Amino acid sequence: MSEDRVTVGLGSRAYDIVIGEDALDRAGALIRPLMKRPRTVIVTDENVRAAQGPRLEASLKSAGIAFETIALPPGEATKSFENLQMLLGRLLDLAIDRQDVVIAFGGGVIGDLTGFASAVLKRGCRFAQIPTSLLAQVDSSVGGKTGVNAPQGKNLIGAFHQPVIVISDMRALDTLPPRELGAGFAEIVKYGALGDAAFFGWLEENAKAVFAGDRDARIYAVKRSCEMKAKIVAADERETGERALLNLGHTFGHALEAALGYSAKLLHGEAVAAGMGLAFDFSVRQGVCAAADAERVKRLLRSVGLPAGIADVPALKGVSGERLLDLMRQDKKVDAGALTLILARKIGAAYIQKDAPAGEILAFLNENTA
Ligand code: GLY
Repeated sequence: MSEDRVTVGLGSRAYDIVIGEDALDRAGALIRPLMKRPRTVIVTDENVRAAQGPRLEASLKSAGIAFETIALPPGEATKSFENLQMLLGRLLDLAIDRQDVVIAFGGGVIGDLTGFASAVLKRGCRFAQIPTSLLAQVDSSVGGKTGVNAPQGKNLIGAFHQPVIVISDMRALDTLPPRELGAGFAEIVKYGALGDAAFFGWLEENAKAVFAGDRDARIYAVKRSCEMKAKIVAADERETGERALLNLGHTFGHALEAALGYSAKLLHGEAVAAGMGLAFDFSVRQGVCAAADAERVKRLLRSVGLPAGIADVPALKGVSGERLLDLMRQDKKVDAGALTLILARKIGAAYIQKDAPAGEILAFLNENTA
């Protein structure tokens, strides 16, 4: 049994991220000590339930935990206000109390929705994250950002609410479609690019092993990503400062996703990959980063089939620089109308650029969409 732990150091709300080859099979034993009474509700989607549900159910049963399951349709549309209301109603009907631990079992959609329901149910109940996508394991299940989408935009309604444990099982990744694996890998590259040049170098060496399913390589990639996120979240839980570094590639990326209507043409992680390539290229254009570093970032992303710029996404053909800048301005991180970008001085040294120069961004986007 190989298992690693990372602690998110948030004082009385500190929690562990347990990462292991078969961690899901120990979920019951891991969660039971955190429960006041041995009963829970699993919130999941139908695909995850079919692929991995029996393992979670068996582990809860062997730990003596009674459970009900709420299985929602897979996909981004599930992360809606309507589903939040429905889920809250079901949890109330099932008499979930503030001390109970609800289980979010799935990718980012299930984690964000269940986390937000837990944040507001009876003014806050406890919840566990069991992320089953690579992206959720290295990003969305850690750090307490929860919420649902609004017609006006993604993730616009939500709360910070930390889980009591995160359990990441490597075997669950075996049933993940390759594009989803790539989307998660983009967020892993992000950690190296923003703050750990040695990890970035390790990824250059080991990307193929991570994709091929090498267990030790996957555990290390997830663990190092979680360590970096845990450190940043512990220092700046509510994103008043350095947590914004985790948005490397996101402001450009959100604009690309929005231009394509948040469709399957470009997954979130793929948009982050393209956005990271753009952030490094823009850093070079601003004279703060060596071109060789931007080339390394783009080479690593492209080596695993991820886009590293606008031209790598055929569906973006014909979208103008003006349109993309307009969409960047609608990002929820815009501060009193001013754009904030995460740029880099080199691989492993990202920084927050407030009041980013809109004219220069437009010229850059025009060059990249020409
Ligand atoms: N996904 C970025 C953050 O959690 O802050």
